[in-house]
Formats: sequence, structure tokens, C-alpha cells
Amino acid sequence: MRKILLVVILGLGVAAASSLSRYSNPVAAGSSQTTAVFDSDGKMKLPVGYRRWVFIGAPLTPNALNNGKANFPEYHHVYVEQKNLDAYLKTGVFPEGMVIVKELTRVLNPTFPDGSRAEPSGRGYFNGEYNGMDVTVKDSKRFAATNGWGFFNFGHHPLPYAESAKEASAAECAGCHIAYVAKTRRQDQVNQRGDAELESESMMAYQVRLAIGVLLMAATAVSPQSGDKGPVFTNDGSLVLPSGFRSWVFIGGPITPNGLNDGDAPFPEFHSVYIERENLRYYQKNGKFPEGTVLVKELSLAQVGKHPDGSLDSASGRGYFPSTLNGLDVMVKDSKRYSKTHDWGFFTFGHHAEPYESAAKESSQCAYCHIANVAKTDMVWIQYYPLLKSKID
Ligand code: HEC
Ligand code: HEC
Repeated sequence: MRKILLVVILGLGVAAASSLSRYSNPVAAGSSQTTAVFDSDGKMKLPVGYRRWVFIGAPLTPNALNNGKANFPEYHHVYVEQKNLDAYLKTGVFPEGMVIVKELTRVLNPTFPDGSRAEPSGRGYFNGEYNGMDVTVKDSKRFAATNGWGFFNFGHHPLPYAESAKEASAAECAGCHIAYVAKTRRQDQVNQRGDAELESESMMAYQVRLAIGVLLMAATAVSPQSGDKGPVFTNDGSLVLPSGFRSWVFIGGPITPNGLNDGDAPFPEFHSVYIERENLRYYQKNGKFPEGTVLVKELSLAQVGKHPDGSLDSASGRGYFPSTLNGLDVMVKDSKRYSKTHDWGFFTFGHHAEPYESAAKESSQCAYCHIANVAKTDMVWIQYYPLLKSKID
């Protein structure tokens, strides 16, 4: 396994990508797959099941960093279907019929002038309510006039969104995408670009970077336990690296950048948190997490910007944009094994780029802070995941 990963890291590129993509997790291959559906007026129907797609990143352009005038003053959660991601990794081209969903969530109650707030993990931005949905569809014939992509806006407001949307005008959407990323199609082109160019990089480019991370994750995730539900332990009680979590429900991605924490945030990254669907459902019904719940928090670095707070200027505004994956922390609920730490065990599979450790011993560095602050809410910072309360499909 290690050899395969090294080969990928050394950049064998598209060829390696295609040979590995068949390992990607099968979870998303079920009923949640969909393609764009249009009615007779050419309106697009609201996509369904997209929260089971692969979450590939959530740029953030808060209003407070954009003179109160950000186009999208929220987190932008981007989802793509596994099969389209696989196709893209294999061919370097986004396949016909591909749908990309960008769902917006508000920034949770700002307390500083820059829109951030201070919490035990540091000063930063946390997710608030869902607040709208934008969609792009690739269809070179239908949308030939806008470079092969159609743009749809299902509302810029809290749930529920519109049931259908007509194609947005080029002035509203496509114009900006065409101006900046008309060329961003092939990952080899993106790979050749240096970090000095990050500042001008935007839209698809950031996705491509993340997609490469996703590919590596797909490779690391291959283990005999692949596809199993719940935690898997080794004989000595270590936790096996969870697999398949990219198709779990993404419930939030706080960011506590170094630039807002005197250069020394404990976790200066985006913290993307995932939970399995059935455990989320149980929580919504019972107000606590069931035995065997696994919560994954994956870290991804923010692209480095010139502003003192670390933020970056992009076509969508000034904000924070994910780059490479940089660590994985996990919590497991098991009241027998972890009765000493309020029924939860804490594990870290490394605070560095992939590959992560394949198994981890229980960590003694974690529980104290969760106990001190969130013992009453089943050890989870539910206040930062308003999405736990939202209706999911
Ligand atoms: C002023 C420029 C601009 C405008 C106008 C704009 N976008 Fe984007 N869009 C971006 C940028 C930059 C990103 C990636 C970074 C981000 O989300 O902040 C993006 C990302 C997206 C994504 C995620 C996939 C991708 O291409 O990266 C979708 C979907 C999307 N936009 C749809 C829309 C729709 C629909 C509209 C019109 C309602 C729209 N956009 C208007 C700049 C723009
Ligand atoms: C100083 C306090 C502190 C310490 C120490 C700490 N955490 Fe957390 N943890 C937080 C906060 C605050 C959040 C939620 C907000 C965020 O991610 O910034 C969080 C979130 C999490 C989550 C997501 C689910 C949840 O409860 O919100 C996991 C998983 C997690 N931490 C695991 C760990 C692990 C593993 C360690 C040890 C390596 C650790 N934490 C150490 C404060 C802490």
C-alpha cells in the first residue's frame, strides 16, 4: 500500500489516478446517484441526495472581509458525485451530465469586526444555518453559449429551496466563471502551476487540488475493513483508520486560522466533520449519539493569502480556501471501553499530510477539553453544527 501511495505522491498523475479510482469507496454508488432533470420549460429540478455525494471543500468569503458586500457571504460547501469524480480523475475532463452542487451556510454569530468568534479551539469561523444553493451542470450542447456549463440558483435563503430553477443569465453567473476558470479542466495543467500562482487560482482549480486529496484518501482507505459500519478495533484496542467517511454526512467545517490566533492555532485548518447518516438520524430523534457512533474530523490547510489574517483574495471575494488535507482526528462512542472519558474515545491518525496512520491508540491529550466544555451535550460541540438540526435527505 505504502508503495502505491508513494507512486501517487511522486505524481504519476492521471494514469495512476485511473488505476486507483476503482478502489474508491462503493458507498456512494447506491441510490443517491442522479443526473440533472429538466422540465419542458428547461427549468432544472432541485437535485436530491447530494449530501451523500463526495464533499470536496468549503471556501468561505465572509461579509465582514468584503466590506459587507460579498456576493456569497457564506461557507460554500461543494459536492460532486463519486462516479463523476472518478471519471474526472481518470480522464482529466469533467464528464457530460456532471452536476456540481454548492450549498451555502451562514457564518455563526460573529463577535469580532472581521466576522469571527473565539471558541476553545481558537478564534475563527463556524457554520450557521443553510442559506441557499447554486448548481452547475455540464452539457456542451445545451449550454454551448456559456462554455458548456449551465448555472442555476435555487434561492439564496434558508431551507426550503426552490423546487426548480431556470437557467441563470450569463451576467449573473457564467460571466465570472468564464472570466477566471474557462481553462481549468485538466489536473495536469493545474499540477504544473506553482504556489506563487495560488492567488489567481480559483473555482475548479481548488476543487482539482482537493480531488487529488480525495484520490489519495480513496487509496489510503483500502483496508480489509473497507465498507464495514461503525468502529473497527485491532486486537490491542487500537482503532483502525475509518474508511468511506467521505460519503457520510458533512455537518460542518469550522476554520481557526493561524492568522487569527497569533500564528499558533492548535488546529490552523478547516475542520471538516463527518457522521454516518443513521447515527445522525438517531441523534435528531433522541438528542444523543448512539453507541458505536464514529465522528471524523479531517483537517485541510487553507491556501496562504497575503492579508495579515491569512485570508486570500479570489474572484468570489476575500476569504479562506481549502488546499491539502492535513490530518485526521476521530471520536468513538463506546460506554464500556471509554467510561472514564464520558463514553467517548479520542484518536488521532496524524496531524500531517496523507498518508495517515493505519491504526491509532487512544489519545490522552484530548478528552479533558471536551469534558470541560461540552460534557452536557454528549461531548460534542453541537452548537457549531446547526446542520445537526436540519432536515437531511
Ligand atoms: C464574481 C464571480 C462569481 C459569480 C458572479 C458566481 N460565481 Fe460561482 N464561483 C466563483 C468562485 C470564485 C468559486 C470558487 C470559490 C468559492 O466558492 O468562493 C465559485 C464556485 C461555484 C460553484 C462550485 C463549483 C465550481 O465551479 O467551483 C458553483 C456550483 C457555482 N460557483 C455556481 C454559481 C452560480 C449558480 C452563480 C450565479 C447565481 C455563480 N456561481 C456566480 C465565482 C463566481
Ligand atoms: C482545547 C480544546 C480541545 C482539545 C484539546 C481537543 N479538542 Fe476536539 N474539538 C474542540 C472544539 C472547540 C471542537 C469544535 C470546533 C472546532 O472544530 O473548532 C472540537 C471538535 C472535535 C471533533 C468533531 C466532533 C465534535 O465533538 O465537535 C472531533 C472528532 C475532535 N474534536 C477530536 C479531538 C481529538 C482526537 C483530540 C485530541 C487529539 C481533540 N479533539 C482535542 C476542542 C478541543
